[in-house]
Amino acid sequence: MIFRQLFESITCTYTYLLGSRPGGEALIIDPVLEKTDRYIQLLAELNLTLVKAIDTHVHADHITALGALRDETHCVTVMGKKSDVDVVSMRVDEGDTIEIEGIRLDVLYTPGHTSDSYSFAMPDRVFTGDALFIRGTGRTDFQHGDNADAYDSLFNKLLVLPDETLVYPGHDYKGDTVSTIGEEKAHNPRLQVSTAKQYANIMDNLNLPNPKHMDVAVPANLVIGFSADQPEIKAATLNATDAIAFCGEDSTLFIDLREVRERERDGVIFGAVHLPYQALRDNIKPGGLLAENTDRQILLYCAFGESSALALQGMFEAGFANARHLGGGFDAWIKAGGAVEKTKGPLPQG
Ligand SMILES: [Fe+2]
Repeated sequence: MIFRQLFESITCTYTYLLGSRPGGEALIIDPVLEKTDRYIQLLAELNLTLVKAIDTHVHADHITALGALRDETHCVTVMGKKSDVDVVSMRVDEGDTIEIEGIRLDVLYTPGHTSDSYSFAMPDRVFTGDALFIRGTGRTDFQHGDNADAYDSLFNKLLVLPDETLVYPGHDYKGDTVSTIGEEKAHNPRLQVSTAKQYANIMDNLNLPNPKHMDVAVPANLVIGFSADQPEIKAATLNATDAIAFCGEDSTLFIDLREVRERERDGVIFGAVHLPYQALRDNIKPGGLLAENTDRQILLYCAFGESSALALQGMFEAGFANARHLGGGFDAWIKAGGAVEKTKGPLPQG
């Protein structure tokens, strides 16, 4: 595995870049806006294609690079279901997985530091965001932080992982880089408690100042959605109510850009062809699935309308004039009362 732990020194933030092989796909966890150029350069140097950018929670101390990386690389942005951000391409919750070629992260919902904190586990390591630090834990005094939730997340989600699991935190203020679950259980001073009340007692007496950039960072991090303000994209955005009228019509080909797991979890629009976002570029080339369908209107949809707007941009660049996308995505479709087919097993392609 290709693995890089990157450091942003102003807010002592760790960012993680993972890929399974040179020439393959990569994902990044908790990228910092000011470091965007560095990530882009490193991706090129390591010959990796960024396909997913993930935040563990809405950060209060720095501005996320999720939006900037999406704009530069057309990667999918991923956050938890509980994150109060305007738009991300994919939302995950406890029990979901985040996958790229050769790498799978299991999603753990670990609230407490914030109500939207998630950790991501692999067989040998866990990315804990601000839920668990090396010899510390995330503060619980703002952004809907909660001591009882934090205790539960620490003791019932993270510390139950095997002792040898490597712990990669979202920050370290002392220069430590990695720990293990066993080490933290034994030596983390905040974890030497036996009840949620004892833990709350420690956390209630920390008397920490607010992060310097909190008033800037939190509002900025809540508005990371792709602004599809190019007139061409705006004009080709169909709202859900209008899109429903085309459902089942031969003249329109609905293309579902989401991943198999999202389709299984949330359902699908009847008759839609499945073409995952990452596979779109190959299919708009001559001989590809969409190139063969140029006489029909193509209606792209994803979960929230972000990937589909980016995909639409790519289609226009490739010369397609008959494509539109569903504004607000599948989420808007459901809210508008559009028919949904539930599926249990994997669906056949197409
Ligand atoms: Fe945080």
